[in-house]
Amino acid sequence: MARLASVGRMSQTVRGVVALSKGAPVTIEQIMIPDPGPGEAVVQVQACGVCHTDLHYREGGINDEFPFLLGHEAAGIVESVGEGVTDVQPGDFVVLNWRAVCGSCRACLRGRPWYCFNTHNAKQKMTLADGTELSPALGIGAFAEKTLVAAGQCTKVDPAAKAEVAGLLGCGVMAGLGAAVNTGNVGRGDSVAVIGCGGVGTAAVVGARLAGAARIIALDIDQRKLDVAQELGATHTINSKDLDHDGVVAAVQELTGGFGADVVIDAVGRPETWKQAFYARDLAGTVVLVGVPTPEMTLEMPLLDFFGRGGSLKSSWYGDCLPSRDFPMLIDLHLQGRLPLDRFVSETIALGEVEAAFAKMHHGDVLRSVVVF
Ligand SMILES: NC(=O)c1ccc[n+]([C@@H]2O[C@H](COP(=O)([O-])OP(=O)(O)OC[C@H]3O[C@@H](n4cnc5c(N)ncnc54)[C@H](O)[C@@H]3O)[C@@H](O)[C@H]2O)c1
Ligand SMILES: [Zn+2]
Ligand SMILES: [Zn+2]
Repeated sequence: MARLASVGRMSQTVRGVVALSKGAPVTIEQIMIPDPGPGEAVVQVQACGVCHTDLHYREGGINDEFPFLLGHEAAGIVESVGEGVTDVQPGDFVVLNWRAVCGSCRACLRGRPWYCFNTHNAKQKMTLADGTELSPALGIGAFAEKTLVAAGQCTKVDPAAKAEVAGLLGCGVMAGLGAAVNTGNVGRGDSVAVIGCGGVGTAAVVGARLAGAARIIALDIDQRKLDVAQELGATHTINSKDLDHDGVVAAVQELTGGFGADVVIDAVGRPETWKQAFYARDLAGTVVLVGVPTPEMTLEMPLLDFFGRGGSLKSSWYGDCLPSRDFPMLIDLHLQGRLPLDRFVSETIALGEVEAAFAKMHHGDVLRSVVVF
């Protein structure tokens, strides 16, 4: 039933934000969007947040497959679907995800689809007007009026939520919230410390609160971030700007009976912050790495400390989320007033303002700038 609405149209042209070459400022280009093939959907994008990963793409930090169609934290309306698509249909309000699980890889077969090693993206390529194939950021590419994705990348949620708020679940907020709730398995009464309170870390604070953590310690080197983290649920804050390693560890211990936190989340992803997380954790506690390190970063530590301190050292990919399970539930909690997702939207901007938003992000002026269409 849910077939392509218009017949005879092979592609359409929309405006999108493209990184044409390494390091160059992004530009608005005409993008050719093919009609959806089997298992694909075209989505009319309503809002798309600006994430650090978009900037990493532009700087060539992810790979060299330029040109990139940036944007991946988005919500919108399904415009058309290809053959065999039954889960979504035109008119559905959806959040886009970068974990369309395959159901048949070894992770999926072991009943752990949130690790899926073979996630789906659209098979057809979006292109520039001259036919040059685009690499969509995280297989999405949503700084565009419309985008082509695998239908499994569209997760239906309650349309009562605002698009600029709902879209944030598509990446950073889900990554941080899931790092606490899913990966860190934070539970009622736990003590939690979060290092780095940008969009991801602040979402981890919110997740820890949702899970019933008794003590939530936010750490950052920027006081403005700590103020927001406190408003959103941190019970204590530590400005670590002028603290060395031992100072950070001692400050967390002081707030946790001298022992360290049950769960420490590193939402920065640098050797020094991970080390702080490791030692600011109670014996047999959990470290969750959700910030993404760069290839040249290394770590040297006494192996005995890994043994002697016990516990678990985990990494969190996309908050170990399962979009079909987590997105609708989190939107429902938001609509009930129990999850302040709206507080992550620092500003809404136009498509032409992405480059300016990168600068604001770089200076720590925003949690999220969100492009609205
Ligand atoms: N694992 C995933 O699936 C996933 C998904 C999305 C983003 N990320 C990553 O999460 C990280 C955070 O993303 P974001 O959007 O919140 O970035 P952001 O730049 O908005 O926030 C980073 C925060 O860390 C603070 N900070 C920097 N150095 C610090 C230090 N030494 N000690 C304490 N705080 C420090 C900054 O002041 C800032 O508030 C990035 O590395 C991003 O790539 C991971
Ligand atoms: Zn799989
Ligand atoms: Zn992202």
